[in-house]
Amino acid sequence: MCGIVGAVAERPITEILIEGLKRLEYRGYDSAGVALLDASGAISCIKREGKVESLVQAVKDQSPTGTTGIAHTRWATHGVPSERNAHPHQSGNRFSVVHNGIIENHQELRDSLTADDGYVFSSDTDTEVIVHLIHKLSADYPDLRSTVFAATQKLVGAYGMVVSDSESPSELVVARSGSPLVIGYGLGEHFVASDQLALLPVTRRFAVLEEGDVAQITKEAVNIIDATGEPVRRSIEESDITADAGGKAGYKHYMLKEIFEQPEAIRRTLQDRLIEGKVADNAFGNGSLKLFKNIKHVQIVACGTSYNAGMVARYWIEQHVGISCSVEIASEFRYRESFVHKDSLLVTLSQSGETADTLAALRLAKSLGYSASLTICNVETSSLVRESDLVYLMKAGPEIGVASTKAFTVQLAALLLLSKALCEAKKINQDFCAESAQALTSLPAQMERAFSLEQPIKELAEQFADKQHALFLGRGDQYPVAMEGALKLKEISYIHAEAYAAGELKHGPLALIDAEMPVVVVAPDNDLLDKLKSNIAEVRARGSVMYVFADSDDQFESEPGLDVVNMAHANHLIAPILFIIPLQFLSYYVALVKGTDVDQPRNLAKSVTVE
Ligand code: F6R
Repeated sequence: MCGIVGAVAERPITEILIEGLKRLEYRGYDSAGVALLDASGAISCIKREGKVESLVQAVKDQSPTGTTGIAHTRWATHGVPSERNAHPHQSGNRFSVVHNGIIENHQELRDSLTADDGYVFSSDTDTEVIVHLIHKLSADYPDLRSTVFAATQKLVGAYGMVVSDSESPSELVVARSGSPLVIGYGLGEHFVASDQLALLPVTRRFAVLEEGDVAQITKEAVNIIDATGEPVRRSIEESDITADAGGKAGYKHYMLKEIFEQPEAIRRTLQDRLIEGKVADNAFGNGSLKLFKNIKHVQIVACGTSYNAGMVARYWIEQHVGISCSVEIASEFRYRESFVHKDSLLVTLSQSGETADTLAALRLAKSLGYSASLTICNVETSSLVRESDLVYLMKAGPEIGVASTKAFTVQLAALLLLSKALCEAKKINQDFCAESAQALTSLPAQMERAFSLEQPIKELAEQFADKQHALFLGRGDQYPVAMEGALKLKEISYIHAEAYAAGELKHGPLALIDAEMPVVVVAPDNDLLDKLKSNIAEVRARGSVMYVFADSDDQFESEPGLDVVNMAHANHLIAPILFIIPLQFLSYYVALVKGTDVDQPRNLAKSVTVE
């Protein structure tokens, strides 16, 4: 989604802002812009539709200078992607604003600013109301921070925003509600960004703004007031993310790099949490084991890939812990009246920790009587981590590719550990506790072995190049793996892909089968394999081209129209975590053959901070 960078310094900041935007490119966007103020208050505002590269060219041509400035990458919500809708937006040739989020009462504000105050709008965005509102209110308030604070009182919706004023060129004012912002602390200079990754080349010291905070940033100081207007301090933490964490480390794409990072990410995530075969006491947060003892139901809420991970966990929790588990898409959960079981644990899953629907679901759940909320999340400073009772931090490292890979497998490892923690707390199912510990410990090495499939899958991917549709099949805990495989393929190769529980085929989708519809099957050697084989036979009989991913040499043989890709036999508990690897490779290499933008697929954003 949209990205924000801002700086107030002694030195020229154009390069800092542009580098920050480049480091936020992964989030997905369709236009970019920058507004710089020099010491006299002269404004240079440059915007371009398309990639940051176009903006860089325009900046080179115009060589603007400035020591205070704001920059933005926009992911269109209100108004098409275009230069006129790109941020910063301006008012009265004085105020400039960049904004992430959505202003829900923008139409009402636009109507009154137009009819009552005579403002003329030059874009179709919801953001432009903010800057005219600030311009209008500035007559009634003594300084920029109190003006912005007053404006925020009239806004309904979500915002992370940064405002500059040409009549006060040595400050920026920032405000946060529903869309994250971090302040970066330098020596005699200060910064702001929607993601600390943007600022790592210039500082490692950050404070995360809380909901409702409004802050004035100058070279010398950061002055924050909270939602009630009272001065507050927010703690400054040293980031442990390295400045090159956003780099590709020699890989062609972030996605490929992140696929190969999975074993290490899992090792880090289990370290100090799985000790000598037991789950560490506070692995899921202080007091978690005591709380888990009485939990009788688990409600998982998530979106996209994280939802697919939750679907796998349902099989583990119901089978091994013996308690009920429901999994729901966050955008559905938040808008219905759901039944809350007694002694229920709410679990949110999220790579970013800022997904608007998942966050709204957590906030709703707080009023519904859950025993506690737990988030399994990859970003320590995120809203989900800050607002949940219990936290399991994933330690996958920054995930930059829009298509989630390592976050999925790390979530699964964490969820298997959660199932084990529930059993340990309840003192039940020791066999599962021992087997899962062993399986998790062996997982990173097994993942490394699965990487040998890269080459055969690369060759096989050619066969998908001219296909319009694909079907993914699985049974049991491999059905969500098929769902995740289909999601990966559709989002980065733009091939329409659907997943079905293989037993559902006869109930409709069999009608689609012909030689133009490749069918991908996830077929580990488990209790359901014979059933799955019958499903495969039904599809074969209808002339389909099939790709079967298996882990047993003697169950399938390749023949014309049936390609078998075998990996080493996987323990059934970790099979879902291993079987996604070939499907990740498949989607990656099909996307390469099709020449799509693998890391930033069209229309998508990495962190979905709007509804
Ligand atoms: C797919 C993908 C998305 C995310 C979804 C949730 O590859 O990345 O489906 O999984 O937007 O995001 P998080 O996990 O950040 O809440």
